[in-house]
Amino acid sequence: MSEQSEEGQGAAAEVAEWWAENPMTYGAAHGQTVYEDGAYELGTREFFERVDREFYSWNQPLHGATPFDRLFPYERYRGRPVLEVGCGMGTMASNWARHGARVTAADLNRTAIEMTRRRFELFGLEGRVRQEDARTLSFADSEFDYAYSFGVLHHSPDLARSIAELMRVLRPGGGFGVMLYNRRSVLYRYNVEYLQGFLHYENQFLGPLELASRYGDGDTAEGNPHTWPITREEAFDLFNPYSRDVSVRILGTELDSIFRQMLPFVGRLVPRFVRKSWARRYGWSLWITGTKDGGL
Ligand SMILES: C[S@@+](CC[C@H](N)C(=O)[O-])C[C@H]1O[C@@H](n2cnc3c(N)ncnc32)[C@H](O)[C@@H]1O
Repeated sequence: MSEQSEEGQGAAAEVAEWWAENPMTYGAAHGQTVYEDGAYELGTREFFERVDREFYSWNQPLHGATPFDRLFPYERYRGRPVLEVGCGMGTMASNWARHGARVTAADLNRTAIEMTRRRFELFGLEGRVRQEDARTLSFADSEFDYAYSFGVLHHSPDLARSIAELMRVLRPGGGFGVMLYNRRSVLYRYNVEYLQGFLHYENQFLGPLELASRYGDGDTAEGNPHTWPITREEAFDLFNPYSRDVSVRILGTELDSIFRQMLPFVGRLVPRFVRKSWARRYGWSLWITGTKDGGL
């Protein structure tokens, strides 16, 4: 094994371990199962329902009649093979299963796999749940008709390779949707660069990747080993080689809570329509969609 790939393996193991210990529970902090209305036991029906309520509330503008139907073309892929990379607690995969997709939910960390399997069992849903590294997926070429990943690949130590893998397992003409953090966002500029980097003087000790990893995931207590947000332009550069119809939208769903938490006084003075237009330009989430080239 080359030195570089050994280093890559080490980084992925560290990422997997961190997320296994601090899974995406949507609690007070990663891994916690305490919410505003009390504590829940990990892996119970009530826990999964609570995770979903919180996850949905963070993404209110993305739902219509059913959760995330403003993001996902559920009906187009009914009965078709769909892949999620980085399923966390299995919320999105379970929605795809409810809409009749033949879903495969993959994640690097064992807690996510255990929890997603448990959720599917508890709620009587059909689907495959597999422990996988986004950079080296074990699936066959063109195995899936639709592939998505939400808030995951910026944690992968090799983003370009993870995207190449996602595209390899997607059939030509298949659709994709990938959410990656935006470096030109209020959250990054204010929380990471200004508040932590400049005001708290952390940029004297941490390089940009370390700073983003520690403070870029809305969880300043413990940080995580790898978080690297990208720009809109970088998103086009990364996805254009695979698709002629790449589109990059900024979701901006978090801007209201940023105003509440980080700028409580200024936030109150800024009218909602201004906040909304900022959210569309400087939001934290880039939603990258397209169709893999080569279809009929
Ligand atoms: C912020 S959580 C998002 C989970 C879920 N998509 C959600 O939105 O709730 C990030 C997830 O990415 C997973 N992850 C990080 N690096 C990965 C990789 N290289 N391959 C697969 N999953 C990865 C972590 O284990 C974790 O479950």
